[in-house]
Amino acid sequence: VNVRIVERFVSKLPPSDMHPYRTGAWRPNLVEYDATDLDVVAGEIPKDLEGVYLRNTENPLFEAIDGRYHPFDGDGMLHAIHFHEGKADYKNRFVRTQGLAAELELGQAIWAGILESPERSERDGWGARTRMKDASSTDVVVHAGVALTSFYQCGDLYRLDPRTMEQLGPADWGGRFPKDVGVSAHTKVDERTGELLFFNYGKQAPYMHYGVVSPKGELVHYVPIPLPGPRLPHDMAFTENFSILSDFPIYWDPARLEENQHRARFFKETPSRFAVIPRRGTTEDIQWFEADPTYVLHYANAYEDGDEIVLDGYHQGDPLHELRPGESPITLFMRSLDMHELKTRLHRWRFNRKTGTTKEEVLDDACTEFPTINGAVAGRRHRYVYSAVGEPGFFLFSGLVRYDLEGGGRQEYRFPKGVFCSESPMAPRTHARGEDDGYLVTFVTDMNRDVSECQIFDASAIDRGPIGRVALPERISSGTHAHWASAAALVG
Ligand SMILES: [Fe+2]
Repeated sequence: VNVRIVERFVSKLPPSDMHPYRTGAWRPNLVEYDATDLDVVAGEIPKDLEGVYLRNTENPLFEAIDGRYHPFDGDGMLHAIHFHEGKADYKNRFVRTQGLAAELELGQAIWAGILESPERSERDGWGARTRMKDASSTDVVVHAGVALTSFYQCGDLYRLDPRTMEQLGPADWGGRFPKDVGVSAHTKVDERTGELLFFNYGKQAPYMHYGVVSPKGELVHYVPIPLPGPRLPHDMAFTENFSILSDFPIYWDPARLEENQHRARFFKETPSRFAVIPRRGTTEDIQWFEADPTYVLHYANAYEDGDEIVLDGYHQGDPLHELRPGESPITLFMRSLDMHELKTRLHRWRFNRKTGTTKEEVLDDACTEFPTINGAVAGRRHRYVYSAVGEPGFFLFSGLVRYDLEGGGRQEYRFPKGVFCSESPMAPRTHARGEDDGYLVTFVTDMNRDVSECQIFDASAIDRGPIGRVALPERISSGTHAHWASAAALVG
């Protein structure tokens, strides 16, 4: 391996930090590396694994403005590994957001985090809640050959070259980027058409928009999705002909919002609602479907099946937690990030476009989340879903699950205790001959050995464990969303 240090940063976090999401497996990284010809410590890198695995990370440098850091506040850091001809290179970079630049210049936090009052922000800012830093730390996709990082509260989409990690600045979309609201995390790439689908949300009517970006990177469609009030959606889905947006009964309590307090409530009696809109449809074309009250962080995929739209995603059995008598706010905070507390289960909704009715079913009783599929079948009927198993009590992943939704099989791999993986997208092998013909790729944080690795699994046999393990220059923080871009997708 050849390792070059690109830049070192200085942490302004407390010296004896105790925060559970800034220590241990979430300890932020301060060094940016370029590493080539990474050491393979076990197995091998398959020669038909060609492309880039990217993972975004909340990687804070400054103490929160009121000392109440939430792991979704941290500055975005991208970790990227590139595979070619059985070899691997690694680079990591902070996403050079305008917010990070301003805080680096001042040497302290300027904006309040999600657990803090927006009034404490020293400057105006971004986000559906408003006055937050756009940390661009939630999600990453590759569209038109360019990596786009995004922020769950809406913001700019920051562009980076997925190979070189060169910072290309915010997306402009031919001058039509919706600067007033920004764009939510979980933009969707349709590999078949090359389009990028997205939504945004905020506190002003119509409260949501949906849009389409052409394969060339120009905004070509942008329509209101009118909602009854401000909502907190996180993900969307699409089929070959339709897009699906959501309105869940968890949102800021309207009475408290009038006092500028952002306190989410679960309105248990209010149905969940799903908007089905033709890909280039107008507001008038929206067909709404009602379903069991819940909240969904992540969808796996959707597809059309005759008159029905089939949507797979993670239904939450217990989506919002309130302070129990005698409970400390820290305990509540920890519970709110635990998929076992949220009871996230793989779920299937069927929306019948003829009758307007919804059917739904639980696909697995186990609590898993962060679903991925082979991107080549996005929007079309999928058979396999690969998800992460949560470490009880934490926002950490301690295993992987492969669901065969047609054959009914279920494979599982558990990492050794103290070893945590990332969201693990499916990477089809070059000239793949089927949906399951490829690999799962993940970054691993190993607290036992104080190292990180990239691990490669056979997507058709994940229970056999990694078939290749590649050493990274240092132990990296756990993170959030990841993306696989095949060599063909890097060309743009
Ligand atoms: Fe997400």
